[in-house]
Amino acid sequence: MSPQGHQVLWLAVVWLSVAFAGAANAECPDNTMCGGVNIPYPFGIRSSGCALAPHFELDCNNSKLFLGDFEVLNISIQLSQIRVLNRISSFCYNPKSREMKNNTWVKTLSSPYRLSNSTNKFTVIGCRTLAYIADAKDERYMSGCVSSCPGGDARSAINGTCSGIGCCETAIPTGLRNYRVYFGKGFNTSASIYYATPCSYAVLTDSTFKFSTSYLTSLEFNTTDGGRAPMVLDWAIRTANNCQEAPKNLTSYACKSENSQCVISSNGPGYICSCKEGFQGNPYRQGRNGCQDINECENAENHSCYGECNNRPGGFECHCRAGSRGNASIPGGCQKDYLPPRARLAIGVVVSLLFALLVFLGWEVIRHKRNIKRQALLRMDDENFQQNGGQLLREMIRAEANITFNLYSSEQIKAATNNFDIACIVGKGGQGTVYRAVLDEVSVAIKRCNNEIDESRKMDFVQELVILCRVNHPNVVKLLGCCLQFKAPMLIYEFVQHKTLQELLDLIRSRMFHVTLGTRLRIAAESATALAHLHSLPRPILHGDVKPANILLAEGLVAKVSDFGCSTIDGKTQAVAKGTPGYMDPDYLLEYQLTAKNDVYSFGVILLELLTGKVPLSKGEKSLTLMFQEAMASDTLADILDSDIVDETRMIVIRQAAVLASQCLVVPSITRPTMTLVAAKLQQLALADEVQQYPQPPLLLEDMSCMEVRSTMSTCYGESNTSGVYNIGKKAVLSIEFAR
Ligand SMILES: *[C@@H]1O[C@H](CO)[C@@H](O)[C@H](O)[C@H]1NC(C)=O
Ligand SMILES: *[C@@H]1O[C@H](CO)[C@@H](O)[C@H](O)[C@H]1NC(C)=O
Ligand SMILES: *[C@@H]1O[C@H](CO)[C@@H](O)[C@H](O)[C@H]1NC(C)=O
Ligand SMILES: *[C@@H]1O[C@H](CO)[C@@H](O)[C@H](O)[C@H]1NC(C)=O
Ligand SMILES: *[C@@H]1O[C@H](CO)[C@@H](O)[C@H](O)[C@H]1NC(C)=O
Ligand SMILES: *[C@@H]1O[C@H](CO)[C@@H](O)[C@H](O)[C@H]1NC(C)=O
Ligand SMILES: *[C@@H]1O[C@H](CO)[C@@H](O)[C@H](O)[C@H]1NC(C)=O
Ligand SMILES: *[C@@H]1O[C@H](CO)[C@@H](O)[C@H](O)[C@H]1NC(C)=O
Ligand SMILES: *[C@@H]1O[C@H](CO)[C@@H](O)[C@H](O)[C@H]1NC(C)=O
Ligand SMILES: *[C@@H]1O[C@H](CO)[C@@H](O)[C@H](O)[C@H]1NC(C)=O
Repeated sequence: MSPQGHQVLWLAVVWLSVAFAGAANAECPDNTMCGGVNIPYPFGIRSSGCALAPHFELDCNNSKLFLGDFEVLNISIQLSQIRVLNRISSFCYNPKSREMKNNTWVKTLSSPYRLSNSTNKFTVIGCRTLAYIADAKDERYMSGCVSSCPGGDARSAINGTCSGIGCCETAIPTGLRNYRVYFGKGFNTSASIYYATPCSYAVLTDSTFKFSTSYLTSLEFNTTDGGRAPMVLDWAIRTANNCQEAPKNLTSYACKSENSQCVISSNGPGYICSCKEGFQGNPYRQGRNGCQDINECENAENHSCYGECNNRPGGFECHCRAGSRGNASIPGGCQKDYLPPRARLAIGVVVSLLFALLVFLGWEVIRHKRNIKRQALLRMDDENFQQNGGQLLREMIRAEANITFNLYSSEQIKAATNNFDIACIVGKGGQGTVYRAVLDEVSVAIKRCNNEIDESRKMDFVQELVILCRVNHPNVVKLLGCCLQFKAPMLIYEFVQHKTLQELLDLIRSRMFHVTLGTRLRIAAESATALAHLHSLPRPILHGDVKPANILLAEGLVAKVSDFGCSTIDGKTQAVAKGTPGYMDPDYLLEYQLTAKNDVYSFGVILLELLTGKVPLSKGEKSLTLMFQEAMASDTLADILDSDIVDETRMIVIRQAAVLASQCLVVPSITRPTMTLVAAKLQQLALADEVQQYPQPPLLLEDMSCMEVRSTMSTCYGESNTSGVYNIGKKAVLSIEFAR
């Protein structure tokens, strides 16, 4: 590097360090002292270079601080004032020269400073004195006052009072930068008053001044502070005229503290800086040395906070402590709260919890009720089941492994019958109602017994069911199962495509068909065999309602006895006769006690119908049995027989059948033959040669078209989806299906 280059670099370093010194104010300590006077920034000792500007530089000579030639007593940042000692001007009579001698001086303050009009008073002391304070430059009088002592007697003055007697004082205008005192020439202390008060004094001094009468008569006032009195100067930053202008030049803007603000100067042009409210410190300095938040809460009561105090930047919050409320700004303003916030919170929580609980309980109650209802239904089903001996039945079924007997639930039955839709009803009898239905994809007839099971008959009923389900007789409709979950038991039978004997008899009466004696006897024999089988079971089953309508005729006119099983459920004390008029045994009507002989009687009536083709009861006529018995007695049997079958060759058989019928109808019942005997006799008669030589002409069940048609059948639930099944391969099957 060249020698010139070295020089340039060195110069740059010097310049930089000088520039740094100017900017190094932040490093100047804020507590520099001189003669017990603290020197805050923007002031600084001239030698330290810490002042904001040359006008703020102070000298510290022999532990005394000087601003130019004013000794400095105090510097205030907050008031933006500096207190200095001001020279006292005097005006004394010189007896030697017999002249008045003035001792005045002139001062022009440097730019930041103005004479403070708020703190200072122009004070004049003397017994015949007029003094002015005037602007030094244009010598305009700004203010002045006269002080005199009546009769020249200084004793008339009063200590502490400066109101014209021995002392006067006057305010000065604002903005005074020059200082000059004049004494009025016409007011002198010559001649007579000289001895008492040789000198007059005038000085601009602050409010600490206190007049003393001794100032008139002695040199005390001039000698106290070396001919000086305290005076206050207002200082400000005069580089900008106002606070709008000042912040625009951040380099020159003096309010460096983040929490400072610009305030327009009250004395002269320019501005001063102050800390924002709630802050304290030096607004002219940055960071830690600048304005700091006042922690009002350290002494909360000085900020009239008598509750809980929370300090925040630039202020504080004050409220009553937890558990009390009121005005925390007033001593004793906080009263104890009856419901402290925590208690209120607790109450709120409890109330909402209670509400939630209530809602929950309500919901639970509804659910519980619904549950109870459902369980009640279930229990009812179950009760019915128990009542109807379901448990017993279940055990019995379990004990017998080889039987297929189903226990159906109430839901299954309800679903299968479309909740007992009347459209599904296929028959009604003395002991129950029969519905057509489909269960497990099998067509069935469901019989709903009319009566509930009597407690005393429960065992009998169940045992009967078990026996019935084992019955596998070609002439007995098969029992498939039952449902005991209703009040009255439901019996489920195989569904037989059929007509009934009743319908066949109707056809015979209408003479539309010729039914031979052989067929009639065969049907009677088959029915009798079926009844005999039921009666001969280990536990005899009594039908109780034997009638043509209960004898189904399957394909080929094969008889099938149906509609049994409900007879047992009635108690012994049944008050109403069950059965069908015309077929009912008069003996049964006497005792209301069903026996096998009752079935024999009813069968006898059917046999009579087959032989005579007459109805057992018709309006206005004698009953068939009575007519028959009379005919038998008077040997006019041929008169009441069906002319279709009357024939000399077969009369023997017919007569035997008639005798059998009369035996069946005999009263008292005890003398009637058993069903087994009746069956055997009829089989024998049906197979007799005289009968067999007349074959039955073809008789298709579907030709029986004149019967009452139950057209409602097709609307029954479960019918539509299975109807196709019935029709397949069932040529001989009726177009009308009729179950019972
Ligand atoms: C204070 O000292 C400096 C240098 O020592 C001198 O220039 C200045 O006049 C003195 N000021 C007073 C008021 O004595
Ligand atoms: C400076 O002024 C403050 C209040 O303005 C006062 O408390 C302090 O005593 C003064 N100091 C001197 C040295 O006059
Ligand atoms: C003092 O004032 C009086 C009148 O007010 C005057 O006559 C006298 O000459 C004055 N003395 C001097 C020394 O100026
Ligand atoms: C004060 O004295 C000076 C001379 O020492 C003189 O020029 C001036 O006029 C006097 N002023 C007054 C008001 O007496
Ligand atoms: C000083 O001057 C200012 C500005 O003119 C004025 O507001 C204030 O009242 C004056 N102070 C006194 C004590 O007269
Ligand atoms: C006023 O006070 C001074 C001392 O402070 C005393 O000498 C003088 O006698 C007092 N004057 C009166 C009138 O009380
Ligand atoms: C007042 O005091 C100063 C300084 O001590 C002195 O110069 C001046 O002559 C005194 N004035 C009078 C009238 O005694
Ligand atoms: C801002 O103030 C500085 C120092 O007083 C001065 O040098 C500079 O020119 C000023 N800038 C503007 C834009 O006035
Ligand atoms: C608070 O105020 C009391 C009296 O009002 C005073 O004595 C005390 O010094 C003050 N404390 C502060 C930190 O200002
Ligand atoms: C509290 O009291 C203070 C002092 O009386 C009053 O200024 C303030 O408005 C009051 N605050 C409220 C919220 O009443």
